[in-house]
Amino acid sequence: MTTPVVLVERPAEGVALVRINRPDARNALNMEVRRLIAQHLTELADDAGVRCIVLTGNEKSFAAGADIKEMANIGSIEMLQRGTLKLWRTIASCPKPVIAAVNGFALGGGCELAMTCDIIIAGESAKFGQPEVKIGIIPGGGGTQRLTRAVGKFKAMRYVLTGDIFGAREAYEMGLVSELVPDADVEKHAIEMAKRIAELPPLAVEQAKEAVLRGMDASLETGLALETKAIQLLFSSEDQKEGMAAFIEKRKPVFKGR
Ligand code: HXC
Repeated sequence: MTTPVVLVERPAEGVALVRINRPDARNALNMEVRRLIAQHLTELADDAGVRCIVLTGNEKSFAAGADIKEMANIGSIEMLQRGTLKLWRTIASCPKPVIAAVNGFALGGGCELAMTCDIIIAGESAKFGQPEVKIGIIPGGGGTQRLTRAVGKFKAMRYVLTGDIFGAREAYEMGLVSELVPDADVEKHAIEMAKRIAELPPLAVEQAKEAVLRGMDASLETGLALETKAIQLLFSSEDQKEGMAAFIEKRKPVFKGR
């Protein structure tokens, strides 16, 4: 039996880890990988036992981009029919926090995949980039948009127009990487963070994620209105009552997700 190209593990209570597993191809994202990531994320979003998801690859590569061999000879209509935007949307719209744990290469579609996540934890020797221009295309999984929103026009242009690869430290300093850790600690650190998030009241976590993401596409006024509605809504939750009572009574809260 062949090993699946995407694996799902449960490294801790409330935490799921989705691992891209095509080591011989530097985890290049063929359609099977894309479909499986989307399918697993959809299932994990509906699984009440999962509160936070870690998406990772292996020590050499998070993902080296779209599978060039699979798309080298296809035409525009096949490209359209692949429906990759729809698949990536599944990840970007996952209501639960998704942490990208990046070691090695996060190039092209791999960098774009990391950018659909909410937090990026990278190893010190990780390499990022949008090298598509070098093979006659452009980023097609959100790179021109998400990189620009993350690091600003002039840094994004510098990398999208040259295809140059940049290191994890530069990515961190630009604001693309949330945390930089020794290579060997990436997965452990991501799981630890996911565990901490999984212990928090899930309704508050989901509302916080939604407010940040929806607000990014809206005016400040609209974003603030969304935030206000979300905090008001949380005052109907049992977890808000429990969280505040526990603080006042100087005890550990017990959250139920209600
Ligand atoms: C298909 C890939 C691949 C890819 C690596 N491989 N990246 N196969 N698609 N994106 C394969 C190689 O062909 C090789 O297969 C094996 O993985 C090992 O790769 P090497 O190049 O020998 O490894 P290394 O010297 O360590 O270099 C790693 C690398 C390099 C720097 C990541 O492989 C590389 O530059 N890859 C392409 C990166 C890239 O251009 N990404 C953007 C893709 S376009 P064999 O069979 O020879 O062992 C994209 C657009 C998205 O992402 C748009 C979506 C709509």
